[in-house]
Amino acid sequence: MPTATCRCGETIVDDRWEKLDEIIEKHRAKQGALIPILHEAQELFGCLSEDVQLKVAHALGISPAEVYGVATFYSFFTLKPRGKHKIAVCLGTACYVRGASELVRALKEELGVEVNGTTKDGRFTLEVVRCLGACGLAPVMMIGDNVYGRVKPEKIPEILKEYQ
Ligand code: FES
Repeated sequence: MPTATCRCGETIVDDRWEKLDEIIEKHRAKQGALIPILHEAQELFGCLSEDVQLKVAHALGISPAEVYGVATFYSFFTLKPRGKHKIAVCLGTACYVRGASELVRALKEELGVEVNGTTKDGRFTLEVVRCLGACGLAPVMMIGDNVYGRVKPEKIPEILKEYQ
């Protein structure tokens, strides 16, 4: 079985590259094929590494810059691997005035990552977002689909333990 190293840092035993070929073939004749291809490629690899982008560009006969442009334009694409659990801290106005930046600080400290960083064990990715639509519960954060309201920084370790 061929292997390759994804720039995500993962060594890939790779039937995934063959699957990527199949994905490209499935979409290539369609108009606007690039976005669905990138979606499926991201599901397959976990991120759109440089290797994946180059492969897609080459297969579609478009420039790597075009692929990179699309991959970086849409927020649902990521060039770096994301953690198993996404933590989204709201920094909208209501949350901000109720101490959301302290939550971010506590999470950075607890996880040892910066915003948009992923923990070394691949468990968490820390992100900040604008208004999650639950301002009455400010400050608010989400871990995956779970919403946490009126979060106090000192509760962070206890909350994260739920995901260990
Ligand atoms: S400002 Fe944070 S939920 Fe609205």
